[in-house]
Amino acid sequence: MRRPLIAGNWKMNGLKADSRGLAAELATRMRAERNVSFEMVICPPFTMLRTAGELLKGSALKLGAQDCHTAVSGAHTGDISPLMLWDLGCEYVILGHSERRADHGETSALVQAKASAALNAGLKVILCVGETEAQRDNGETIAVVSGQLAESLPPGASGDTVVIAYEPVWAIGTGRTPTLQDVAQVHAALRWEVSRHLGGKAAESMRLLYGGSVKPDNARDLLSLEDVDGALVGGASLKADDFWAIGAAIDA
Ligand code: PGA
Repeated sequence: MRRPLIAGNWKMNGLKADSRGLAAELATRMRAERNVSFEMVICPPFTMLRTAGELLKGSALKLGAQDCHTAVSGAHTGDISPLMLWDLGCEYVILGHSERRADHGETSALVQAKASAALNAGLKVILCVGETEAQRDNGETIAVVSGQLAESLPPGASGDTVVIAYEPVWAIGTGRTPTLQDVAQVHAALRWEVSRHLGGKAAESMRLLYGGSVKPDNARDLLSLEDVDGALVGGASLKADDFWAIGAAIDA
C-alpha cells in the first residue's frame, strides 16, 4: 500500500560535470528498469536543479530540493520560494534536516511554516526529525522525535503529500546506524504520533523513511523493517551504483 521512496540528498555537493553524469546515469537506469517497485527522487543543490530536471525528463526519476522559504515571493535576499521550486519541476522538498536545524537555527515552528508553504505550492514534503547522541544517551529519543514531529507537521498533511524521515543526528555521515530494533521502535512511535495528529488513515498511508549512513550493504535489513518505507540517503546518493543498489535492495 505504501510505495517505498528512495530519496537522495546531495547536500552541498555537485558541480556541472559530475552532477550531469550522476543525474543522467540514474535517469537511464530508471528508464531501463520499468518495473521497479520504488519511487526514486534526487535532491541536488539549487544550482543544479534545472540541469538535473532536464536530464530526468521522460524518466520516472523525480526531482526535489533541500529547503525552501515560507513565502511565495518577496524581499528575502538569497532565499528560494516553494513556488519557484514547483515552477522548476520539483515534486519534493526536504525540510527540517538536522543540518538546517543546526547550521541555520531552524526551529520546528519554522519547519512547519515552510512545510505549509510547500504544500500550498503543490510540493510534497520530506520532513526530517532526529535525536542527537546526547539525547539518545539520556533515553530521550522517542520524546524528541515525537515532539519535533508534532511541532513541524503542517496542517492538512496527508500520506499523499508528506513523508517523514527519521534521521538520528549521530548517524548522519558517520557510518554508524542504530540497531534494527531501535529503528523499528522509533518508526512505530512515529506512526503512532502521526495517527494521534492526523488519524489512522493518514498514519497508514504516510511513508516513514530511515536516514543516516544508509549504504548498499545495510539497506536490505533496514528497508525490510515493517514501518520503514524507504530511505533518505546522503553520501551514498552521490554514486549512481550505490544509490541504485539501495533502491534495488527493496526488490531483491
Ligand atoms: P548520510 O546522510 O547518508 O550521508 O548519513 C543522510 C542525510 O543527512 O540525509
